[in-house]
Amino acid sequence: MTQRVHSIAVIGGDGIGPEVTAAALEVVRAAGVSVTTREFDLGAARYLRDGFVLDDATLEELRGFDAIMLGAIGPAIGDRRIPGGTLERGLLLAMRFGLDLYVNYRPFHGVEGSLAAGCDFAIVRENTEGPYAGEGGALRHGTPHEVATQGSVNTRFGVERCVRYAFERAARAAVPKVTLVHKTNVLTFAGDLWSRVVAEVGAEFPGVAVDYHHVDAACIYLVEDPQRYSVIVTDNLFGDILSDLAGAVTGGIGYAASANLNPTKTGASLFEPVHGAAHDIVGTNRANPLAAVSSAVLMLEHLGEEEAAARIARAVRDFEGDAAILGTSAVTAQLLERL
Ligand code: IPM
Ligand code: MN
Repeated sequence: MTQRVHSIAVIGGDGIGPEVTAAALEVVRAAGVSVTTREFDLGAARYLRDGFVLDDATLEELRGFDAIMLGAIGPAIGDRRIPGGTLERGLLLAMRFGLDLYVNYRPFHGVEGSLAAGCDFAIVRENTEGPYAGEGGALRHGTPHEVATQGSVNTRFGVERCVRYAFERAARAAVPKVTLVHKTNVLTFAGDLWSRVVAEVGAEFPGVAVDYHHVDAACIYLVEDPQRYSVIVTDNLFGDILSDLAGAVTGGIGYAASANLNPTKTGASLFEPVHGAAHDIVGTNRANPLAAVSSAVLMLEHLGEEEAAARIARAVRDFEGDAAILGTSAVTAQLLERL
């Protein structure tokens, strides 16, 4: 059998990003997957050096890879040299929108000792619309009569493709159930669209149960009764907030992985840990690579390398010890041993 070679664009980024990405790549290669990599120097450090964020040519180059691995993007906390939104909108969201990464898939497994110990669930977050779309503007800026609007964009097309992905995932999950999380009692226009789409798409999946929670109630359930959830589907902003909460109750975002997916595969999908750049521990060998490794597992599943993905996922699940204490190289070594 000829082995496939996958081309991976690597955006290590800032802070501990390059360290955890390198660890994840080491684990991927040790699992027997053939990859060629090309590094892209993007992020806060690059911007501070020469003002470059992202351009069309680079975006087109990225599109051509089989996948993109991203470490972390962002300046150190307290570094005010980069205006807010420059990298978030200019780089991260530009890739999500430009590559049509319309699902942000974030699986969670409650580690021992966490509030959600033993629970498995996933958040399917719409990744190209909602308040993130950038609709709105400001009038009379800086005056006492200033107006700022920030609309939430919800298209039938965008909602439906995200909801469909959630049902497809749920159909293969241990507990086949989709929970829509929204605020339909207040956000009545968007809520109505989401509710109808969930009901319609749900009818195509008779084996998948359907539930609904308001987002405020979901925050309580995630803390007090997380076993209610299997697949949560929600809009971009609710999904952003809920996935940090889900990370916290399942053991900390040191473990949380994410896949920015273009399920139709018309361009590269992007895989990144949920955590940030943690500049305070750069170069100290203290970065926990488990979230980056778990993101690589999602990448391998997307690339059709299910067997290697399952082996790495098992190694992560069987991992023993406190990753934050053991440090990057010891955690990586333990994973390599378990493979
Ligand atoms: C995330 C992050 C991003 C988001 C930021 C950095 C723009 O918080 O991936 O969850 O809000 O989506
Ligand atoms: Mn977030």
